[in-house]
Amino acid sequence: MRVAILASGSGSNAAALMNHFSNTEGIDVVLVGSNRSSSGVLEKANQAGVASLHFSREELDSGELLKKLETLKVDWVLLAGFLLKIPKEFCRAFENKILNIHPSLLPKFGGEGMYGMNVHRAVFEAEEKESGMTIHYVNERYDEGAIVFQGRIDVSELKSAEEIASEVLKLEHEYYPRVAREVILDSERNIK
Ligand code: GRF
Repeated sequence: MRVAILASGSGSNAAALMNHFSNTEGIDVVLVGSNRSSSGVLEKANQAGVASLHFSREELDSGELLKKLETLKVDWVLLAGFLLKIPKEFCRAFENKILNIHPSLLPKFGGEGMYGMNVHRAVFEAEEKESGMTIHYVNERYDEGAIVFQGRIDVSELKSAEEIASEVLKLEHEYYPRVAREVILDSERNIK
């Protein structure tokens, strides 16, 4: 299965995915794309020897990026801290073939504007006892696709949003690669 990773930020999840899949038979990361040219993820792709691409919001919205992924015969798209909305056409072209990771226990603390530290601050301010991460399919609405997996941690003893962020990120790195691998390889078994 040919996989593309899209990310906007530092790319630590993308790096965890690339690292894991470099030892996974049947999964090849063929492209890492980012809408931000300064995003650390592009550098991480270069270090891993994976092709990288900077694209603009216009290229995403106009279908240019979709065409590029189709030319590369990409089967699956993994979002790893990707901040732009995936357009309808793109969702349709990759129906049930896009996964995202979100740093809360959806449906709690999801939706527009809920990304990065905004999520962890909201969790901290709400005095939640637990938080975690959600891996879900992507559809046309923010954070509403079917949930594949949730990892939970007790945050009742944590003293700041930053501490929550750091613990949740560890969970993300631990589970996203393994869960994505299972989902992707399962989809291949179902085709055969
Ligand atoms: C992660 O918390 C992810 O859940 C969220 O954005 C963050 C990206 O971090 N969607 P990184 O760029 O992978 O380090």
